[in-house]
Amino acid sequence: MAARSLLLGLIVVLGCFSETCLATISFSSLQRTLVVTASHPQRLLKAGEDKITVTWGLNQTFPTGTDSAYKTIKVQLCYAPISQVDRAWRKTEDHLSKDKTCQFKVVKRPYTTTNQTSEWTIERDVPAATYFVRAYALDAEDKEVAYGQNTDAKKTTNLFEIQAITGRHASLDIASVCFSAFSIVALMGFFFAEKRKGRKAQQ
Ligand SMILES: *[C@@H]1O[C@H](CO)[C@@H](O)[C@H](O)[C@H]1NC(C)=O
Ligand SMILES: *[C@@H]1O[C@H](CO)[C@@H](O)[C@H](O)[C@H]1NC(C)=O
Repeated sequence: MAARSLLLGLIVVLGCFSETCLATISFSSLQRTLVVTASHPQRLLKAGEDKITVTWGLNQTFPTGTDSAYKTIKVQLCYAPISQVDRAWRKTEDHLSKDKTCQFKVVKRPYTTTNQTSEWTIERDVPAATYFVRAYALDAEDKEVAYGQNTDAKKTTNLFEIQAITGRHASLDIASVCFSAFSIVALMGFFFAEKRKGRKAQQ
């Protein structure tokens, strides 16, 4: 028991001496060097059905070499402030490892100096809320070094809404009720037919 807690303590201490615990990347320290756009058929989208097309690239006003450390681009779907109110589990924190703004992965790809585009079908488990899209540039150690988003700094423009798939559920429920009703009717029909057959046989 004591040995186990000692080992656990050692792991925690060692973990904190490694880079991950010391290097606390803050969002405010990142430069916004990526230009990100998201296009979608309408402002209100359906999870599991509608697609979002995301395009990203380096903002050309930055000097050449700005992107020299960029290795990977990670695009995420993020909660807009209106959908974070009273929801601690979606809270924005400057400390990126604690930040819960962006919880859904759209795509992760090697960085290229040219613009890239990716089409993403909104996953069915994405909850109904208002969102924006953000891309992080990661370095060789998978650490965030820059970002870009399809909205302004205050996260008020170009937001879109995702609707959960309740409509689909309702129609499925109706279908299963109809099916059960049909089964009962069929069963009853079968039962009476058998009974009548039995009666005929008795006569
Ligand atoms: C590119 O960066 C400059 C300087 O930060 C900024 O003023 C401009 O709005 C950016 N362009 C786009 C398309 O985001
Ligand atoms: C990349 O995207 C930006 C912003 O949408 C655009 O201004 C630029 O011309 C594009 N570059 C290329 C090479 O397509």
